[in-house]
Amino acid sequence: MKNQDSILIFGSSGQIGRSLIRKFTKNNYRVIAVTRSIHRKGFQIKTQSNYGYLELEEINSFTENNISKLMKRVTVCINLIGILYEKKKNHFNLIHSDLPSLLSKEASKNAVDQFIHLSALGIESATDSKYALSKLDGERNIKKNFPKSVILKPSIVYSVDDNFTTNFMRLLSILPVMPLYYNGKTKFSPIHVSDLTDIIFQIVQTKISGETIECVGPEVITFKEILLKILKSINKKRLLLPLPLFLAKINAKLFQLMPKPLLTMDQLKLLKYDNVISKKYKTNFDFNMEAKKKFEDEINRYSFNWTTGGQFAKKKI
Ligand SMILES: NC(=O)c1ccc[n+]([C@@H]2O[C@H](COP(=O)([O-])OP(=O)(O)OC[C@H]3O[C@@H](n4cnc5c(N)ncnc54)[C@H](OP(=O)(O)O)[C@@H]3O)[C@@H](O)[C@H]2O)c1
Repeated sequence: MKNQDSILIFGSSGQIGRSLIRKFTKNNYRVIAVTRSIHRKGFQIKTQSNYGYLELEEINSFTENNISKLMKRVTVCINLIGILYEKKKNHFNLIHSDLPSLLSKEASKNAVDQFIHLSALGIESATDSKYALSKLDGERNIKKNFPKSVILKPSIVYSVDDNFTTNFMRLLSILPVMPLYYNGKTKFSPIHVSDLTDIIFQIVQTKISGETIECVGPEVITFKEILLKILKSINKKRLLLPLPLFLAKINAKLFQLMPKPLLTMDQLKLLKYDNVISKKYKTNFDFNMEAKKKFEDEINRYSFNWTTGGQFAKKKI
């Protein structure tokens, strides 16, 4: 039996998933959060919710049968599963195309009202990136299986819980030099995770359907500006060194051997393309769903973790 205020979230243990659980459970929705390992991720997920509003579901292998059982119980399904690099059996096509295809098929079969899928911004131009092509393929499969689905295409999503600003804060606090790829000129429209989860919440509340929406923050800033803002915020001066492409490729080839790569060849290709609105789709601003949080203001709230002297250190820069 379907519970009217129940949300099923796949990929719930990630940055966006944890923030979404907080948003929905605080507003009296019941959330079923799917993870591959309750043992490893349970403590991160459980602490996000009001007592009694969250159910954890462990799924290791996704089948029609186990997905369908969950879809039967909810009116809204949100898919946040995604990877930034391929490892072993986790291929882009499997995660970004085949899995969303299966989820959207099951959502449709089981009369789910809303299927919301997180894709990515700027992937249309990045025709040489496997990540981008697999995300686009996923969008096409979903639209075919569940034409009323909502596809969200965010720029970089950041917060104290991310793998982006916090990684750069860590690296910039220890390394004397930071390489700049493509001269640091690639543009981004970073959106704070709480602005994005407010948008998803409004999409559910106002029952928006059949839309593709680019989700961006209030500013357009270059990669170099992002690094400079982070440096200012952590109170450090570092050399930002533009790397010629052939050196950047060697850099990426070495980095991608790491268990959690800092950069892969595919990510280097993606970095070539601006990550800003395409004007092909509507944006969150067209739906009056504003994203007001500014990058510098927000990172200043948590950068003290990487500042010498901590929260009460005097700013030098
Ligand atoms: N963060 C950004 O800047 C950004 C920008 C644009 C688009 N997006 C998209 O937004 C979505 C959510 O992003 P996020 O930052 O919250 O991601 P995240 O922190 O990396 O979390 C992704 C989730 O995917 C699940 N997952 C990973 N590999 C999986 C696999 N092989 N099978 C099943 N589940 C798997 C993980 O869940 P378990 O380990 O618990 O199973 C994890 O919770 C992704 O699709 C991402 O591509 C993110």
